[in-house]
Amino acid sequence: MRRLPVHGATASAFAPAKVILLGEHTVVYGEPAVAAALDRGLRVTVTLAAAAEREPREQSGRDERERAVVELAAARFGLDGARVRVEVQSDVPMGAGLGSSAALGVGLVRALGALARRPLAAAQAAALAAEIDCVFHGQASGVDVAAVASGGVIWFERFGEPQCAPIALAQPLELVVGSSGEPRSTAGPVARLRARREAQPRIYDATFRLAGELVRAGRDALVRGDAEALGATMDALQGVLNGFGVSTPTLERMIHAARSAGALGAKLTGAGGGGAMIALAPGRTAEVAAALRAEGFDAFAATIGRAAAAEEVDHARIERRA
Ligand code: PMV
Repeated sequence: MRRLPVHGATASAFAPAKVILLGEHTVVYGEPAVAAALDRGLRVTVTLAAAAEREPREQSGRDERERAVVELAAARFGLDGARVRVEVQSDVPMGAGLGSSAALGVGLVRALGALARRPLAAAQAAALAAEIDCVFHGQASGVDVAAVASGGVIWFERFGEPQCAPIALAQPLELVVGSSGEPRSTAGPVARLRARREAQPRIYDATFRLAGELVRAGRDALVRGDAEALGATMDALQGVLNGFGVSTPTLERMIHAARSAGALGAKLTGAGGGGAMIALAPGRTAEVAAALRAEGFDAFAATIGRAAAAEEVDHARIERRA
């Protein structure tokens, strides 16, 4: 029989943040996307409180969605969600379109699996993390969770059942990630683009296909290590995203600043309408990050496609204190 964890038991797991390199929004309409785990992210620590310390719903102090998520996930591991305390440490801005909710889901599922001594197989863990992401964002394409769960760089397509395959890079890629500080949501820009498409389906569907072609060209450049071609593709996709109405004057200003400081390409990442942008800046991350900071934005350098992110993801540890 499986031994249940005793109170005071604690477990912790890391899950990386993510960027969508190519293909946000059009991925919702069946076109491909390329997304990548960052070499930073969230550490989720779960601790089992004593039965006498169950949090009554009305006193839990947790926000509604967080409580729903913890209860949903804990129940899958046979644990009482009202006894699970969750602590999150992050070295990326939360709620900025860098996959923090997907990382919270993946980290929570891994940490709870370790706490309950019942780690889920990768596919089941990703499915549960996708359910959790839905609580935060409503129905999504699944690209965020797939990238976070993979720990690497992925090709993602959604035709009915999502398809996800790892992409091997010619070499790790240096990016700068800039946060606009503008509040954002995933659902808002997705709904606005849907309304535009419904008004002019022929034009939008043709543009979605064009974006899909750009994503394929970008993937090919990524695989052969052609940073200039990849940067040009990122710029072209940014033009499309701006045309969809999901960029903002602030993001445009940041993208312009990054290109002027020597980035080979720059675009918003994620749903837009605020949130974050990325710049491809091999050998120039310090200059590009400094240019963004000089404009008053938070910016950090990140590397994608290094095996270390995936190793760190697999790391989950458990300590028994009781
Ligand atoms: O949640 P975000 O900001 O990473 O955006 C998700 C990407 C979208 O393509 C805009 C939506 C989706 O469901 O794929």
